[in-house]
Amino acid sequence: MTVTTDFDPNAPLLDVDDVVIEYETRADGRLVAVDGVSFTVGRDETFGLVGESGCGKSTVAKAVLGLLPRNGHVTGGEIRYRGVDVASIDREQLNEIRWEHVSLISQGAMNALNPVHRISTQIVEAIQAHRDASKDDARERVGELFELVGLDPERMDDYPHQFSGGMKQRAYIAMALALEPDLIVADEPTTALDVIVQDQILKRINELKDQLDVSMLLISHDISVIAETCDRMGVMYSGHMMEHGDIKSLFRNPYNPYTLGLQNAFPTLFGEQKALVSIPGNPPDIAERPSGCQFAGRCPFATDRCLEAHPEVEQVGEDHFSACYRHDIIEDMRRRAPEQETWTERRTGPAEREEVADD
Ligand SMILES: Nc1ncnc2c1ncn2[C@@H]1O[C@H](COP(=O)(O)OP(=O)(O)O)[C@@H](O)[C@H]1O
Ligand SMILES: [Mg+2]
Repeated sequence: MTVTTDFDPNAPLLDVDDVVIEYETRADGRLVAVDGVSFTVGRDETFGLVGESGCGKSTVAKAVLGLLPRNGHVTGGEIRYRGVDVASIDREQLNEIRWEHVSLISQGAMNALNPVHRISTQIVEAIQAHRDASKDDARERVGELFELVGLDPERMDDYPHQFSGGMKQRAYIAMALALEPDLIVADEPTTALDVIVQDQILKRINELKDQLDVSMLLISHDISVIAETCDRMGVMYSGHMMEHGDIKSLFRNPYNPYTLGLQNAFPTLFGEQKALVSIPGNPPDIAERPSGCQFAGRCPFATDRCLEAHPEVEQVGEDHFSACYRHDIIEDMRRRAPEQETWTERRTGPAEREEVADD
């Protein structure tokens, strides 16, 4: 089978362009989970998407693969794969794009392995469903894939229950790589595993992307995972893209107070080890999002203007974009962000400010 879709060879591999994604819910009506998010993933590039739980990362990942649940809809913008709007193609084409071009490794992927079939059988079937390969050839490929993900090929005829969680996740990654996709969407691929196994698998994924010329959209709530693995990154907060671009630029010269806060909250990989400083409070509830900057309620640098509307994304560097009204005091924000008092003092701030704004 070959995909008949007309791809544009000059377009970015993945172009998420001002995308809005809503969920229809019985209790709260339509909820905007992703609100005008844009970013691109180029060839042979790893793009990291980071943000606290509930900010919309998995919703973006599912939309890219056309796998939103029934009540989820892309209601604005476009998601283009090699220049082709994913929403404009039929199910059959989408099915071919999935696996052959784009494959998904999610947090629970290992549980997607069928418990009653040998792992080799499942991967052989996946290969034969898309490729004209003999069983022997497909089995040989499974052996190669096992080696690639760091599993012993001798174990390929095992059943999933004979594998540990980490091994199952590796086996699923092998399956996701079977058809040599151009883009892997890895949504918290190691979050369900213990820290040591997480580390090993991330290292392996890192080596694989260099070995296989594959692009990756790596999603994590942990900014240190992204820092270790990615070329470019995006920071999401409450449905919005707060800052995105070249990873070195984002780490060395962050422009967004939320990125500054996230960087404080995780151990640093660049530079000296310092005390972890957390951002007090929680993101707003999706059903009750404030009208201003989504982060204003937790931001130590927010002013009344920040309560009016969410800021537009502005270009702040060559490949560096940020949404914030306070870019003019960036040096001051960077200086004050590492101090815990900066964040805790703010705790009493937002309510008062909102009252002032209401007057
Ligand atoms: N099927 C669904 N129906 C309604 N709301 C949903 C559904 N899936 C996710 N959401 C909501 O959308 C928001 C974004 O969720 P998600 O994309 O899973 O975030 P993340 O992956 O960043 O944790 C959350 O508020 C979540 O509760
Ligand atoms: Mg998620």
